[in-house]
Amino acid sequence: MNSRRQFIKDSAQAALAAATVPSLLCWAFPQKQVVEVPGEDGMILRSFRFIDLESPVEYFNTWLTPTPHFFVRNHMYEPVELDRGMWRLSIGGEVEKPFALSWAELSRIESHSVVNTLECAGNGRALQRPQVPGIQWGKGAVSTARFSGPRLRDLLQRAGVKSTGKHVMFRGLDEVPGKVPPFIRSIPIEKALDSDTLVAVQMNGAPLTKHHGFPARALVPGWIGAASCKWLTEIKVLDAEFVGNFMSPAYRFPNQPGKPGDAVKPEDTHPLTALSVKSVIAGPSNGATLKRGRLAVHGAAWAGEADVVKVEISTDGGATWSPAQLGRDQSHYAWRLWSYDWKPGKPGDYIVQSRATDSQGRTQPATPIWNPSGYLYNAVDQVNVHVA
Ligand code: MTE
Repeated sequence: MNSRRQFIKDSAQAALAAATVPSLLCWAFPQKQVVEVPGEDGMILRSFRFIDLESPVEYFNTWLTPTPHFFVRNHMYEPVELDRGMWRLSIGGEVEKPFALSWAELSRIESHSVVNTLECAGNGRALQRPQVPGIQWGKGAVSTARFSGPRLRDLLQRAGVKSTGKHVMFRGLDEVPGKVPPFIRSIPIEKALDSDTLVAVQMNGAPLTKHHGFPARALVPGWIGAASCKWLTEIKVLDAEFVGNFMSPAYRFPNQPGKPGDAVKPEDTHPLTALSVKSVIAGPSNGATLKRGRLAVHGAAWAGEADVVKVEISTDGGATWSPAQLGRDQSHYAWRLWSYDWKPGKPGDYIVQSRATDSQGRTQPATPIWNPSGYLYNAVDQVNVHVA
C-alpha cells in the first residue's frame, strides 16, 4: 500500500480512537498531532476516508466561491500520481475516428467559460426525515465557480459521432478501493453536444486543483454534481445509457412521490439530471441572538438549468412572504446571491424562511420530496433566531 493511503488510513483510525471527531478539518490527535489538508481551512469534514468537505453556509457571501472554500465530494481515493505529461484523454466508442489527446494538445483547443453552481445530489440529506443513509451533508455541498476548457462538442465533432451514438460516458482516474465499482457515468448525447458542456481544465482562472479533478474534468452545467466526472481519462460514446452502480441504483429519483419512509422499486425510478430550485439562508445563522434594529437576511438561490426569478422571505413562520433583493451578478447555471432588509417589530423568537421560484415556474416546497437516498432536498430553508 502506498504511504499516502496508509497515512490517510492511520489518520482515520487515530481520529476514530479520539472518540469525538470535530467538524473542522484540523484537529488535535491524542498525541497532540495536528492533521491538516492544506488550503481547506474552515471546511466541514463529512468523511475523512475519501475526503468529503462541506462549505459552511457563512461562505455563501461571494458569487464565485474561492476554490479553497468550494465543497469536495469524492466517492473513492483521489488518484495518487497525476503527471500532466503522461496524462491522456481518449475519445472513442460509437465514433468514426477515435483519438487520444495529450495535455498539450487539449490546451491548444479553443477554450470556453461557464459560471456554474455545482451541487451534490445528496446536499441537504441530513435534513431528510426519516433519516436516510449516505454522507450526511448539511446545506453546503454546493458552490459556484467559473470553469473553462474546450467544449465537449468540439471533441465529439472531431471524432465524428455515429448515428448510433446516444449517450456519452466519462471515466475518472480515481483509485478504486477493493471491490468498489469504478466511478463511471454517462449523459445523453443532447446534453453532451450542448455548447456549455465542457472538458474543464481551469477553475476560477487557475488550473484545476487535485480535489476538483486536475488535470481535466467534465463540466455538465445545471446538472447534479455527479455528472461532472473528475480526473477525466476516457470519453466513450455509447448506443445506450451506461450500466453501472453510479447510474443505477445510485443517483436515481422516484417517478412518483411517495410517503416519507416508503421504499421505491428500482423500475419506478429515473436517473437524476438537472438540479431543483433552491435557496439557502447564509445569515443570520440558526440559533443566533440578534440586536434589534435593521437586520440583513442574506443567502444564495439556484435552479439548475433554469433561472431564479424571485426569492421571498418570511419572518412569521410562513404566514406572509416579502421579496428579497436579488444580487447583481448573474449567469445562466449560476446562483444568485440575495438579501432582505429586516426590521423586527419587537423582541422575541422568530422563524426566518427563504423560498425561491424559477423561470420554469417551480417553487421550493414546504416539505422535501421523499426518496430513500435523500437526493435533491430543496424544502424551504429556515433558521430560528432570537431578537433581544
Ligand atoms: N468524479 C470522479 N471521478 N469521482 C468522484 O467521486 N464525485 C462526483 C463528481 N465527479 C466524483 C466525480 C460528485 S458526486 C460530485 S457532487 C462532484 O464531482 C463534486 O465535485 P467537486 O469535488 O469538485 O466539488
